[in-house]
Amino acid sequence: MSDKAILEIDGEKYEFPLVRGTENEVAIDVKALRGATNGVITLDPGYKNTGSCQSAITFLDGEKGILRYRGYAIEELAEKADFLEVAYLLIFGELPNKEQLEKFHADIKSHSVVDDDVKKIIDAFPKSAHPMGVLSSLTSALTAFNPSSVNVDSEEEMYNAIVRILGKFPVLVAWTMRKKRGLPLEYGDDNLGYVENVLKMMFKSPNHDYVQNEVLVNALDKLLILHADHEQNCSTSTVRITGSSHAGLFVSLSAGISALWGPLHGGANQAVLEMLEAIKEDGGDTKKYMAKAKDKNDPFRLMGFGHRVYKNFDPRAKIIKVAADEVLSDLGVEDPILDIAKGLEKEALEDQYFVDRKLYPNVDFYSGIIYRAMGIPVEMFTVMFALGRLPGWIAQWREMRLRKEPIGRPRQLYTGETLRSFTPIEKR
Ligand code: ACO
Repeated sequence: MSDKAILEIDGEKYEFPLVRGTENEVAIDVKALRGATNGVITLDPGYKNTGSCQSAITFLDGEKGILRYRGYAIEELAEKADFLEVAYLLIFGELPNKEQLEKFHADIKSHSVVDDDVKKIIDAFPKSAHPMGVLSSLTSALTAFNPSSVNVDSEEEMYNAIVRILGKFPVLVAWTMRKKRGLPLEYGDDNLGYVENVLKMMFKSPNHDYVQNEVLVNALDKLLILHADHEQNCSTSTVRITGSSHAGLFVSLSAGISALWGPLHGGANQAVLEMLEAIKEDGGDTKKYMAKAKDKNDPFRLMGFGHRVYKNFDPRAKIIKVAADEVLSDLGVEDPILDIAKGLEKEALEDQYFVDRKLYPNVDFYSGIIYRAMGIPVEMFTVMFALGRLPGWIAQWREMRLRKEPIGRPRQLYTGETLRSFTPIEKR
């Protein structure tokens, strides 16, 4: 195969090198395009064909339904690894040995206290505030309490900022939920594993001993692993582009949290459950909602279906569907919503509209059912996604900084008015 692409504009030919990834993906390197062609740019709204960077973190093949972190299949990681190991793998590139993992965890634990004044900020939010807005604000606010995390250039400075946020973020997650439930803002127990401690911080009641439930720990571990990275999605690209201005890790993550909030992205897990609830309330008529989803005059979309990159089964959805069954049966929960979800999935997979458009269930179609069985309120679902995605965002931010990528600044094709002269207000 050739190693260059040829572009012809107004009879003039330009050559651009082809770049190949380790999985034989091919990209046209257009860095020189604008300079060579006297101002011509590429136009690609939604970046459907645009590679924003080279990355060695996550490989996904949407046609084949493959997802790998640092070369390891997601199926194997979900089965054999725990979340902290996966976080280490994503951020530093290799699975940790025992000592490395213990040191990583110890460093995180040494930063797992947040300044007590953060409680005042949380108190100032109304209980009705959406937890994603609260989490985004708090993550940004942490910068004020940890200014050394901003100007990080060396690997050591980056490491310190990374373990700090990995220590403090679960506290913010738990306190966001506790505030909503009117519970005191308490800490967990550093003797526990990372995920066990998250659950304890979220659910511990002030006057009861908290008893760990292995089923919940395993389910959350798995969910967090499955959400941990997904290459250049909307929130991750937001983190990279914010960080590219050297704005600091915490605010870059805060920007990513805001991007994740939207229902077309991470907010889909909340939207899926609300949709399934609405279908149940409406008598469970899935066919009616299938018809709405296909009606171009109806804005309704089947939430949890379709994906920008997967045009095949989202491999994460397969794992989560099985996990949902297991968790519900282990907890002895019978949730009619699971049946509605399975019914919708079956109908959609057999429906020509969905088949033609290659719309399959995505990661969030079943995750909300598990979160609900765990006792996590619907508005917290996207917060749980953010907790899972944290190592991925960090890994991508670190990679971007270590590769000394330039500030992200796309071009545009201007389609507005050309030069015109100012009309005084009395003459308009
Ligand atoms: N229900 C009904 N129709 C759909 C759906 C859906 N969920 N998703 C896509 N379509 C249709 C579109 O109407 C469009 O049809 P057309 O070609 O006849 O106009 C076609 O499929 C292609 O859809 P696009 O919106 O162009 O696809 P895009 O790649 O831009 O969007 C997205 C992907 C945003 C995920 C979309 O499928 C969607 O809105 N899904 C529902 C929300 C959701 O579940 N988001 C979570 C994504 S996973 C994640 O972020 C973790």
